[in-house]
Amino acid sequence: MNLKIAVLAGDGIGPEIIDQAIKVIDSVCRKKGHTTQYRKGLVGATAIDNTGNPYPEETHRICMESDAVLFGAIGDPRFDNDPRARVRPESGLLEMRKKLGLYANIRPVMTFPSLLHKSPLRKDLVEGADLVAIRELTGGIYFGKPQGRSEDGNTAYDTCVYHRYEIDRICRLAFDFAMKRRKKLTMVDKANVLATSRLWRETMQEIAPDYPDVELEYMFVDNAAMQIIQWPRRFDVLVTENMFGDILTDEASVITGSLGLLPSASIGLHTSVFEPIHGSYPQAAGKNIANPLATVLSAALMFEYAFNMKSEADLVRSAVEASMTEGVVTEDIDSSNATGTSEVGDWLAEWIEKQ
Ligand code: IPM
Ligand code: MG
Repeated sequence: MNLKIAVLAGDGIGPEIIDQAIKVIDSVCRKKGHTTQYRKGLVGATAIDNTGNPYPEETHRICMESDAVLFGAIGDPRFDNDPRARVRPESGLLEMRKKLGLYANIRPVMTFPSLLHKSPLRKDLVEGADLVAIRELTGGIYFGKPQGRSEDGNTAYDTCVYHRYEIDRICRLAFDFAMKRRKKLTMVDKANVLATSRLWRETMQEIAPDYPDVELEYMFVDNAAMQIIQWPRRFDVLVTENMFGDILTDEASVITGSLGLLPSASIGLHTSVFEPIHGSYPQAAGKNIANPLATVLSAALMFEYAFNMKSEADLVRSAVEASMTEGVVTEDIDSSNATGTSEVGDWLAEWIEKQ
């Protein structure tokens, strides 16, 4: 099969981690007899510098014409420190999610046996933790209107909006995931305070009878933030709105041991996007120290979800596990004996070659 992949490297460490994922994809494709066709697109601060637009029309076209999008990272400190910046790199990411209709962001959180000692959490608590967070990605406070400032500049507002159809489709998708796993679904909200959360619960209660085999529970987000860390093994599939999902998945990365390890898949109406959950880590850009594994594992999700190639995905995951067992890891995982970003990529590609 010929895989048409749009490559949006973005900012900061984006280009270096994407390069490693591409080495791995190429190696898997050589092994399994597939061909690839990559098309690069500008996004984020790099795109602003070149075109004035963080998600140029040309990039969108490339995404729409591809079978999958591999995405690096977005964000540049030049914009973070300017609260009145007219355009921001992040708005490119949000626009891409909206235009591609990527309403579901799937973030698996797992543990690696060789890394258990790295987690700041006690080994006996995290061992065997295996959950999937499903974050709604195109609604809520990220996109609600109005958003802005009063004329005198002294008042600012964001609006959280959810429509029933948006909640319905993401909750059904979460149930489908639960059906393929341990059949437990936790919906996280703040229904004791927010009207949107109450609509989430109402919608969920209507859908639940269609999935009698799934055990459904509701949990307030503050409580969920505590339980994820205190008792991660109790979770199977978690579904929640955009902002809560953003926060809880960074928190959940602590279970794995490094933010540099968590991949994600964003799926919806058009081409799916595969990206690490971490940001652009500008302090590390160009230093060959960033962990490429979250992006490499995102490529595994790409094989699985975009191309329905489970054995290709498993090959990537096995390579990642092997690199960790062998201690071929970047400094976030082993500061005393670190391997460079590019060398980790080479090692993975070679390991796959040898299988
Ligand atoms: C993420 C990121 C983004 C988000 C930022 C960069 C806009 O934190 O993908 O989790 O908040 O969605
Ligand atoms: Mg985030």
